[in-house]
Amino acid sequence: MQTPFYHYDLNILEQTLCAIEEHSAQLENVHIHYAIKANANPLILKPILNHNFGIDCVSGGEVQAAIDAGFAPSSIVFAGVGKADWEIDLALELGIACFNVESEAELDVIQERAALKNKVANIAFRVNPNVDAHTHANITTGLAENKFGIEIPMLEPIIRKAIALPNIAFKGIHFHIGSQITEMEPFEALCHKVNEVQDLLESKGIELESINVGGGLGVDYDNPETNYIPDFKSYFDVFRKNLKMRAGQQLHFELGRAIVAQCGRLITKVLYVKQGTSKQFVIVDAGMTELIRPALYDAHHKIVNLSSEDELQKYDVVGPICESSDVFAKDILLPMTKRGDIIALLSAGAYGETMASKYNLRKLPQATTEF
Ligand code: LLP
Repeated sequence: MQTPFYHYDLNILEQTLCAIEEHSAQLENVHIHYAIKANANPLILKPILNHNFGIDCVSGGEVQAAIDAGFAPSSIVFAGVGKADWEIDLALELGIACFNVESEAELDVIQERAALKNKVANIAFRVNPNVDAHTHANITTGLAENKFGIEIPMLEPIIRKAIALPNIAFKGIHFHIGSQITEMEPFEALCHKVNEVQDLLESKGIELESINVGGGLGVDYDNPETNYIPDFKSYFDVFRKNLKMRAGQQLHFELGRAIVAQCGRLITKVLYVKQGTSKQFVIVDAGMTELIRPALYDAHHKIVNLSSEDELQKYDVVGPICESSDVFAKDILLPMTKRGDIIALLSAGAYGETMASKYNLRKLPQATTEF
C-alpha cells in the first residue's frame, strides 16, 4: 500500500474490547457507547459492533456512519452544541436512543421537528459540571468557560419545561469533562458532581432514568508497546465506588480514545534526511494532513524506525506540508535513518484518520489491517 497509511491491529482492539467488557461488568445496567469521532473506519467499527457496544455521535454524518456499519438506532446517542435541523431530522427518523441536548434553544427545535414528524424524542440534558479535567486546554470541556452543556443552576427549569413538552421524553443527564484524562481524580470529582446534581433534582421531585458520564479515559502515549491496554479496572472502579446510582437506573459511558488509540499507527516513508546547521531533519511523506494532533495540541506520538537498528542519532521528524507547525517530534533519538526507511507513529488510532484533511491538495490516507 502506498505510504502514508494507517495500520490497525485488530488483535489489540479485540484485547481492549474484552478488557472493557471484563471491568465494566462490575457495574449494573451499564452501556458503553463508542465515541465514533475517534475513528469511524469500518475496519474498526465491525469488532466494536460485534462486542455489542453502542455509538456516541456528534453529527449527522456520524449517525449515518454508525447505521451503515450496522449499529441499531436504539444504541445511538447524539451530542453536540450545534445540531443542524437535517441532523435532528435524521436522528428522529431513525429513532435513536437519546439526544444529548446542550441548550434550551436546541430543546425547542427538537420539539418542533419531532412534532412535525409526529415522533417523540428521548432526550438527556448535558450538564456543564465545572470539573477540571487537568488535561490540554483544547480538549477540556467541563469548565464553566467552555461552550458545552447547561450550567447546574439553569437545569431545573429546563427539565421542567422538557417534561411538559408533548414530543419530548426526558430521560436523564449527561456529562463529559474532557479527554486524555490519565488520573482518576477528575473522574472521582465527576462522580461527586453527578451525585450532587441527582440529589438536588430528586429533592425537587425530578427522577432520572439514565446517567451518562461521557468518556475521556486517556492512554499511555509514552509506552504504547508495553502498556497498550488502558487502566479500565481503576476507571470503572471509580464509578462503582463513588456513583450513587438509584435502583434500575441505566449508566452510560462514551469512550473513544481508550478504545481505539493503541490499535492504530501511521506508517510513513522517509523521503529525505536533511542536515541543517544545528539540526538533522527526517522528512517523511506523512504530515499534519494525516495526523494533526502534534501540530494542534503539541501531542506526543512515539516514533519508531522499522527499517533501521543502527546507532542512535538526534533528529527532528517533520512532514512535507508547507506549515512550520508540521512537525511530529523535535530532538528525538532514532536509529540512523536514511531515505526509504519506514517509520511508524504509534498510538494513532484515535483522532488520527478522522481528523485527516486534504490541505495542500493531498489525498486522504488509506487504511489496512495487514502490514
Ligand atoms: N463524549 C463526548 C460528548 C465528547 O465530546 C467526546 C470527545 C467523547 C465522548 C469521547 O472522548 P474520549 O473518550 O475519546 O476522550 N481531537 C482530540 C480529542 C477531542 C475529544 C472530543 N470529545 C484529540 O485528538 O486529542
